[in-house]
Amino acid sequence: MIGRVSSLLSYIYNKVLQMVNFSSSTRSGLAFRFAVILILLVTLVTPWLAALFVFRLYSSSTSPLLFDPFVLPGLPRRTLDARSSVITAAACVESASKLKKGSRAGELVVATECSCRSVRENELERVIQQLETKERSQAFERIYSTDYWGGGESRSGPGSNVLYTANARKMLAEAFQKFGVHLVLDVPCGDVNWQPLIEGFNSTKYVGYDIVPQLVARNIEHFREFKNMEFARHDFVNMPIDITPDLIICRDAIQHNTLKDGVRALANLEKSGAKYLVTNWHANTGRGMHIPANKHNFHVSVGGTYPIDVSCPPFNFSNPELFISEGPNGENDDGKFIGVWKLPAMLKGNGERFIIPDDLKVRAKQKVVFWDEVLKAQDLASI
Ligand SMILES: *[C@@H]1O[C@H](CO)[C@@H](O)[C@H](O)[C@H]1NC(C)=O
Ligand SMILES: *[C@@H]1O[C@H](CO)[C@@H](O)[C@H](O)[C@H]1NC(C)=O
Repeated sequence: MIGRVSSLLSYIYNKVLQMVNFSSSTRSGLAFRFAVILILLVTLVTPWLAALFVFRLYSSSTSPLLFDPFVLPGLPRRTLDARSSVITAAACVESASKLKKGSRAGELVVATECSCRSVRENELERVIQQLETKERSQAFERIYSTDYWGGGESRSGPGSNVLYTANARKMLAEAFQKFGVHLVLDVPCGDVNWQPLIEGFNSTKYVGYDIVPQLVARNIEHFREFKNMEFARHDFVNMPIDITPDLIICRDAIQHNTLKDGVRALANLEKSGAKYLVTNWHANTGRGMHIPANKHNFHVSVGGTYPIDVSCPPFNFSNPELFISEGPNGENDDGKFIGVWKLPAMLKGNGERFIIPDDLKVRAKQKVVFWDEVLKAQDLASI
């Protein structure tokens, strides 16, 4: 290519000199030769620079001041690289498709850079995710193998004992019926101490995910007889959910992770396309958890515990469809409730705490309360 261009140039150069028939030894002859070379160079370089400028102008939504004439197509482009950390693969594809109207060379350069960048970004992201999953897995393996939460009956903690879960099971049986649940995903499922006691459980397909490998192996063995049950190792923060359950149970789980991982996990659950989510919230009365009353949603390291209130930032859940108070006879010291939400729920609320009138709080100790009843009570109170 370069060879051809240079022979073309020397051909033009010689032709021009022949046409004017100059003597090469004179001073003006030398000046003329120099001028011809200069003109040739300028005509060669200018279109490239102009094309680059136009390309830069239209290839990014950022300021054209980022234009860098010293960087040629095909070579690493410093300005674009510096911004690459904020250019997502999606934005990249978008700008590449905008360029369809631009030059073919520009299209190719951007397409190549885009795909290189997203492949590389994905690779790095995968490495980070694997490390995170390992870290989380080790924390929960330790909790499981040492019975750290002291459940006694259940390694998943006292909140998973049969007596404690009576109301949770009552609510789930009602939700299974009301919402026609055929496939339920329980993530993380723990040692599944109480779930098979839900009324109607055997006629519902149950998938249990947990990050602790020993727990998954144990569950597969332990529930061999149950034809409706299936288990897999899974990290709800980082691994996509490749089934579409009617309802997801995510109970007593989010509050043992960092807030950031909790948000990521909930976003992941929503992405599965499930219609309903069952989870819990703690109004935190200050009695149960040895944490000052009303303090909630604060940072803990993985495996720690904070009182979670999904109504508040960063979760900002919408109102639940229905709920019940947890604990034996609905009594607990944490102000703990379990509810069913229609998905998506996160960021659908206004960030204010759920207000439940006292009489409905009392009712919720025995029976499922529908949010419509809360609304009705609020309407009456406002008259
Ligand atoms: C559900 O199935 C299991 C295993 O087959 C059985 O042990 C259990 O009694 C069944 N439960 C109900 C309520 O039928
Ligand atoms: C969540 O609620 C808080 C408090 O009302 C509000 O400041 C914040 O903007 C909300 N966040 C989102 C993402 O909706």
